[in-house]
Amino acid sequence: MQHIERDVVIVGAGPTGLTAALELGKAGKSVAVLEARDRVGGRTWTEQMGGATIEIGGQWISPDQTALASLVEELGIETFPRYKDGDSVFIDHDGQRHVYSGDDFPVGESTVAEINRLIAHMDELTAQVDPDRPWEHPQAQELDTISFHHWLGSLTDDPVAVDCVGLFIAGGMLTKPATTFSALQALLMSASAGSFSNLVDEDFILDRRISSSMQGVSLAVAARLRDEDLFLQNPVLKLEWDEDGVTAHGATVSVRARRVIMAIPPNLYSRPTYVPALPRRQQITHQHQSMGLVIKVHAVYPTAFWREAGLSGTGFSPTALVQEVYDNTFEGDHGTLVGFISDTKADAMWELDEDTRRERILDCLADFLGDEARHPEVFYLSDWGSEEWTRGAYATSYDLGGLHRFGPTQNDPVGPIHFASSDIAGAGYQHVDGAVRMGRRTARKIVAELDGTDYDASYSGAEAAFGA
Ligand code: FDA
Repeated sequence: MQHIERDVVIVGAGPTGLTAALELGKAGKSVAVLEARDRVGGRTWTEQMGGATIEIGGQWISPDQTALASLVEELGIETFPRYKDGDSVFIDHDGQRHVYSGDDFPVGESTVAEINRLIAHMDELTAQVDPDRPWEHPQAQELDTISFHHWLGSLTDDPVAVDCVGLFIAGGMLTKPATTFSALQALLMSASAGSFSNLVDEDFILDRRISSSMQGVSLAVAARLRDEDLFLQNPVLKLEWDEDGVTAHGATVSVRARRVIMAIPPNLYSRPTYVPALPRRQQITHQHQSMGLVIKVHAVYPTAFWREAGLSGTGFSPTALVQEVYDNTFEGDHGTLVGFISDTKADAMWELDEDTRRERILDCLADFLGDEARHPEVFYLSDWGSEEWTRGAYATSYDLGGLHRFGPTQNDPVGPIHFASSDIAGAGYQHVDGAVRMGRRTARKIVAELDGTDYDASYSGAEAAFGA
């Protein structure tokens, strides 16, 4: 066992932990990053399969994500636009396929009007919600103690409109059934992206991709750290702490430091043993944050055959097995589709044997884009629920009523222990952008603590915390 000393030890080499390490280094603080896996990037992860590039985790960047955009620029990394040319496909509640263009789902005039009215209502409320403090909204308790599904149902008599609007946040973002999280949690999700209209506009929220892949951002940050500061395959399972500092125990290294950043998702905070135990409030809070579950489906073909048929590759359905599908082709690569299967439908898929699961999923892709979709060269399902160091996808959210009750203390440090991840970000919540913001803000807070200077609470993390 190697014993080392640093100013700050960081647990987790995902985008949050690595960004914090980068900024602390710029401020002249020594760091050690301990990562459980044998790779960096956390929920961003890229592999080559059958000659194609597969982004197993996070991948898209949108125009509101200014923190990630500034990090990408700082690192000299290029981005490219998602392929969007051509018509989209919608599969309705009766399983009927509709080819359409424009922003509105082809669901009938009165339902379209209801959907647009609900979106306008969500936008109005979202504008009143501070993503860093959603619990301060005057109706926070009321909005946090009704499920998103039932709240939408109280606003309209049109069940198709409820399902279509619910899809954007439930299956589309929190990856939990809309009956299991609150209307306030849904408003946090939309406030974190600037507006509900931003979230429902796939051309906005899924605007661009990173040329080297999203994991490439973490790899580029890691390359700026000193080799002797990054320890892979070192899960931290014990953390001793007092007011003077911490000792983080990894598998092959233990680090004595003045501060620690727990840069891991909240559902994993209880994995290490804390000596002494965390205070009551933190122990309770973390139990109310749980991961959603989504299967990211990757299907690679010799060519992007749907483009020849005038289709963009984009498809939606509030009821079909695959709720969303997009053209995910890397520039100059094969033709790649990506689809998403969320929450209870994901549960059902993992119950099936491998061949049946593959057949059901490809049948659904064929319903959207034609028979050729049944014969991919590469077929791969991202299985984040089986990953010990994540345990779900995309991210965590509170159970019903948890956000207004526990949210106010979720970001509070405990002595030398700071918590940071995209899951507890305001702007950029659940996204790499939120991870970058949290990494930068936590680095600045710790530098202020160690140097005895003031921390500017209005710092958003949109720009780098320190100069090069
Ligand atoms: P993250 O989970 O990435 O990193 C935490 C790290 O801590 C991991 O490396 C883990 O191994 C490590 N760890 C855990 N416990 C430990 C312990 N005890 N000791 C040591 N290490 C430990 N975002 C986006 O912006 N655009 C997108 O398109 C998507 N899409 C998407 C798809 C899928 C399938 C997923 C799973 C996720 C996304 N996301 C996304 C979300 C995005 O990937 C996510 O918000 C960030 O990766 C979060 O970064 P963090 O560093 O906060 O946590």
